Amino acid sequence: MASQTPSRQSQVPIVIAPSILAGDFGQFAREAQRVEQGGGDWLHCDIMDGHFVPNISFGPDVVASIHRSTKLPLDVHLMTERPDRFAEAFAKAGAARLTIHLEALGNKNLGTEGRAVFERRSDSSIEDTLLAIESHGCQRGLALNPLTPVSAVEPYLDKIDLILLMTVWPGFGGQRFMEEVVPKMRAARALVQQNGRPIYIEVDGGIDAATVGVCAEAGANAFVAGTSVFRHKTMDLAGAIRELREGAGG
Ligand code: DX5
Ligand code: ZN
Repeated sequence: MASQTPSRQSQVPIVIAPSILAGDFGQFAREAQRVEQGGGDWLHCDIMDGHFVPNISFGPDVVASIHRSTKLPLDVHLMTERPDRFAEAFAKAGAARLTIHLEALGNKNLGTEGRAVFERRSDSSIEDTLLAIESHGCQRGLALNPLTPVSAVEPYLDKIDLILLMTVWPGFGGQRFMEEVVPKMRAARALVQQNGRPIYIEVDGGIDAATVGVCAEAGANAFVAGTSVFRHKTMDLAGAIRELREGAGG
């Protein structure tokens, strides 16, 4: 049993959240059940609109069908330009949490299609969307692209339950982990510890047995993993989840 990482924020338990984006799109119900039986804690559902990211994945009706096939909390990651338009639909579909991007709702440097860099244009749209998510009974997450500084999330700390630090540019699974995001995990941990509320620090993109430990040591406590779970070299999904949990010190 790996030693507990002393610096790990102790308020929330380690969470392994396999991303079904790496699963068989024709067998989502079976894939969700495999994750549940294999010891996954949450099921990460990547929603892509072809605008905020250069890819399209699936919508609320598919999330509803996944919800009917598993008891796992659905950790819905909205990589969409207008998450305000779909909060209710995904909440009704059974999302346990809706995570929106700080860079969405126009809050980005317009010259960065597909690789949005945060540029605050309107606070209210983010606040309003987080309020709407809460009003629909979902937990609230804020996602930051690799180049968005952690300080950008400070104004919203009392209104969220999770910070998602992207360790790849969003849009696709199977990408290479970006080491340069690790200092952001330390910064996020410091912010959360200062705030005092139990806010998850989730990391997403290229998380596998080789990268999970450095993230946990830096303060992450929720780990999204697509390729390293669904396409593990042994194809043993439960073993892949166990390997990540041990690597995270859980
Ligand atoms: C990328 C998604 C990630 C992705 C993770 O835009 O947000 O959740 O599915 O996939 P891996 O673990 O393969 O990098
Ligand atoms: Zn994701």
